[in-house]
Amino acid sequence: MRAFLVGVIAAVVVIVGALVAAIETGRVPARADGPLMFGERWAANTALKAAIAREEPQPPYPFTQTDADIAQGARLYVQNCAVCHGTANTTPNAIARGMGVRPPQFATDDVMDDPEGETYWKVEHGIRFTGMPAFSPALDEKSIWQITYFMKRAPDHLTGEAQSIWENPSQVPPPTPMPSLPPKPGQGK
Ligand code: HEC
Repeated sequence: MRAFLVGVIAAVVVIVGALVAAIETGRVPARADGPLMFGERWAANTALKAAIAREEPQPPYPFTQTDADIAQGARLYVQNCAVCHGTANTTPNAIARGMGVRPPQFATDDVMDDPEGETYWKVEHGIRFTGMPAFSPALDEKSIWQITYFMKRAPDHLTGEAQSIWENPSQVPPPTPMPSLPPKPGQGK
């Protein structure tokens, strides 16, 4: 029994040592323009689906979705999302091309089929390790719902002002500057 335990402990020490050595000698991918690691996509997708299934808001959803809400969602989209996800007539820009995980371009790769609760969760919390930011520190709940309701209709079911903004995003002014940020726990700056 004792020899068995010593064996198990030795195996754990060797595995942890090999992992630390791989990290310290630069063998774990750190660049955004390399291929994904074996199993990385599976692990990330599975974790994401499970977290969303547990935490996404369920209907009835709060807040209305009047035409004015959807137009406001379009404005917030242009200010916060279009840089990665594009608008009606754009091709992927330098940022979208250079990201390790390519951001879907919603003119063609839309999320109209996803439940609103799922889109709300992704915009509120972001998607770890992909570059998709969490907007909870920047936008209030109502704004995130307005973006969500806009996303449910883009690109094919927009009308009026929202459609006009989607096609001509330059009519939206840049976002108002935000106050400086306190340090983030666990990070140097
Ligand atoms: C810095 C780039 C960046 C910005 C800005 C950004 N995203 Fe993303 N987003 C991504 C990436 C990369 C992914 C792909 C994640 C993945 O494949 O798991 C993504 C994924 C998504 C998805 C899931 C798509 C799907 O097919 O399931 C939604 C919805 C989304 N983003 C909405 C938004 C909205 C709304 C905003 C603005 C409020 C926004 N994103 C801002 C990079 C960005």
